[in-house]
Amino acid sequence: MDIFDRIKQDHDEFRDLFEQATKATDGDVAKSKELFEKIKKELTAHHEAEEHTFFAGLAQKPETKDITEEAYEEHKVIELYLKEVEENKDVRWAAKLKVLKETTEHHLKEEEDSMFPKGRKVLLDSELQGAVEQFDARKKERLAQAG
Ligand SMILES: [Fe+2]
Ligand SMILES: [Fe+2]
Repeated sequence: MDIFDRIKQDHDEFRDLFEQATKATDGDVAKSKELFEKIKKELTAHHEAEEHTFFAGLAQKPETKDITEEAYEEHKVIELYLKEVEENKDVRWAAKLKVLKETTEHHLKEEEDSMFPKGRKVLLDSELQGAVEQFDARKKERLAQAG
């Protein structure tokens, strides 16, 4: 498994979690809030791990500089919105979760459809070496901090 497959694996988990969470807003709101907590924790760790093991190299290549800068900003938008949702769970909960789902899914798709194919072309084997281990270690560290 290379770093692209590893990240895709996380993305598919997020798609699944969002699906479950948005479904649960209709009937089991407590469960949807629990799933949101999990999504928030995992997504923040995923972003940080991506930025540390993957984006840094891509931001330095002319072919992937723009798309990587966009992805950094999308992480910021998602992080800001995660905070907003966390702090205002009692107002328009289902709508908030749906907007978070759509915004995140847009970002995941952009990474997979634009960044990854370009990244596969421009990153050298030496730059990809150990990336999966670094990604997992960074994520684990971040998750441990989040408690
Ligand atoms: Fe990302
Ligand atoms: Fe990602």
